[in-house]
Formats: sequence, C-alpha cells, structure tokens
Amino acid sequence: MKTVVIGAAGQLGRDLTPRLGGEIVPLTRAQLDLARPETIGPVLKPIRPDVVVNCAAYNFVDRAETELDAAFAVNAWGVRALAQVCAELGCVLVHFSTDYVFGLDTGRTTPLAEDDAPGPVSVYGLSKLAGEYPVRSLCPRHFVIRTCGLYGVWGAGGKGGNFVETMLRVASQGKPLRVVADQLCTPSYTVDVAAATAALVRTQAFGLYHVVNDGHCTWHEFARAIFELAGVTADLTPIASADWVAPARRPSYSVLMTAKYVGLGLPVPRPWRAALAAYFQERSKKS
Ligand SMILES: NC(=O)c1ccc[n+]([C@@H]2O[C@H](COP(=O)([O-])OP(=O)(O)OC[C@H]3O[C@@H](n4cnc5c(N)ncnc54)[C@H](OP(=O)(O)O)[C@@H]3O)[C@@H](O)[C@H]2O)c1
Repeated sequence: MKTVVIGAAGQLGRDLTPRLGGEIVPLTRAQLDLARPETIGPVLKPIRPDVVVNCAAYNFVDRAETELDAAFAVNAWGVRALAQVCAELGCVLVHFSTDYVFGLDTGRTTPLAEDDAPGPVSVYGLSKLAGEYPVRSLCPRHFVIRTCGLYGVWGAGGKGGNFVETMLRVASQGKPLRVVADQLCTPSYTVDVAAATAALVRTQAFGLYHVVNDGHCTWHEFARAIFELAGVTADLTPIASADWVAPARRPSYSVLMTAKYVGLGLPVPRPWRAALAAYFQERSKKS
C-alpha cells in the first residue's frame, strides 16, 4: 500500500503522515503545487499511489475575500485536476474540507449533517465547497472529510501558528483580548482528526464525512479553556461578531455532526476540552 500525502508540511499533514500505514510519500508544495494543475499528473503517475491524501489548501480566510483567484486556483481548480488524475490512476482520494461550507442558514442551532445543504458565507468557504464537488463526482473512491478549527503542535503553515498559540502569545504580551462569543463550532485537535482519518480510510466506506472533536463551544469559551489549562491569567473579553471587523464573514453556527463517522463503528472523537488538554501535554514534551 503506497500513500501520497500532499501538503505534508502543514499542521494536519504532519500529524497524519505518521498515522497512515504502509509506504508513505510525503510531498510539500515545492514537490507538488496544486496551483499548477498541469504538473499534478506528471508528479503522481510515476509514483503509482494506492491512496492520495490532500492536506494542502489555500487557508487565508480573510485574504481570500480579495484573492479570489488564488483561493479557487488551489481549493477548487487544483483539486479538480487532482481528482481527475486520481480517477485515471484508479486510486483512493482523501480530501479535507471545512465547516465554512456552512453559514448561510443563520437560524441554525442544531448540529449539521453531511446531507444538510451547504451555504458558504465567504470566498474561502465557497472555494472549499467548489473543491468538494469534483472529488465526489470525478473520483469514485473518495473520502471528503469536513473538519473545523484545527490546531496542532506544528501550527498552520502559512498562518504561522494556530489559535491556541495566538491567544497565549497575545496574553503573554499583556495585551487585552476580545474574542467572539456568538460563533459556535468545535475546535479540533489535528492528532485526533489524523487518527480518525486513518481509521476511516481503512473502512473503505467511501463518501462525505464530518470529523471533529466531540461537543461544541464559542471561540470565547475556547480561549477561556486555553488560559485555564495553561494556568495563564489573561485580560479576555467576550464580544459579538458584529463588533469584530474582519473582511470575511464566519458562520454563527457550524457545529458538525459526526454520527455518520461513528455509525461505521469508529470511536467517538474525545470531547474538545480533553483534546485541548492533550495538546498541552504534547506541547510541553516538545518545548
Ligand atoms: N486550519 C483550520 O482551522 C481548518 C479548519 C477546517 C478545515 N481545514 C482544512 O484542513 C486541511 C488542512 O489544513 P491545515 O490547517 O493543516 O493547513 P496548513 O497547516 O495551512 O497546511 C496547508 C499546507 O498546504 C500547503 N499548500 C498551500 N498551497 C499549496 C499549493 N498550491 N500546493 C501544494 N501545497 C500547498 C501549505 O504549504 P506552505 O506552507 O508552503 O504554504 C501547507 O503546508 C485543509 O484542507 C483545510 O482547508 C482547516
């Protein structure tokens, strides 16, 4: 079994690669650039992979509002070319998407299932949704895995960190923190999403899945838990989304239901707070 991991240097890619069995071929952007679709076939075909896992994405949610072409080049057109190549190779394609494919239903208050109608409210969300369809329609043996609020010890490549580290850094500078308290979702630990992905791929039960830690919280509650677990006193104030000026809109409710994943007999991902505690344990080992 030979598995190619695209975007292997990202935070999810780095936690997923060691959890996949068999022979692994990790590829960074320098080796395979999704924004250059004509290069995908020539790179992948000689490797003859059984499975291709795509952890790469254009992830700059706010910048995407003005860099529409760049976001679509990677998240939609690059993924479309990748799905075509995987279909030609007859291999499995594992692709990651996001809770940001939701948000249009502003009255939503119950967890979102895979068959709930998507409706993005940002260019990033739209570009990721546009990438889901070619994977699902062109490559029969696929997994599309929507996840949410990722944080891992490697930090999101291009963003240079993750939400946990940003909170701790700002607090350590003694600066006040204003964090939205009206957006509900499930921050998820890359180690848990990686383990769940590896288990899901082994089932061969292809399709669209939601994979996140259990439970939900607001970003303010998440920040409070970060400071509690880190033993840090911070000047943290809850605010409304309306008081946070950002180029991109975010969903007010994007809690993903994991019943379909759990229905395969796979373990319920641990609660988000336990996952955060595990992150701090892993983090302390690295420092
Ligand atoms: N981060 C989140 O909160 C979140 C939430 C929901 C879903 N997701 C999804 O989860 C997946 C993994 O995200 P992540 O947080 O692990 O992202 P990440 O840490 O930012 O990693 C993304 C990787 O993709 C690479 N990349 C960017 N553009 C590329 C291109 N044109 N060709 C090839 N590689 C390229 C980046 O390389 P460089 O470092 O060279 O730029 C980086 O190594 C993505 O599909 C993302 O949309 C993420």
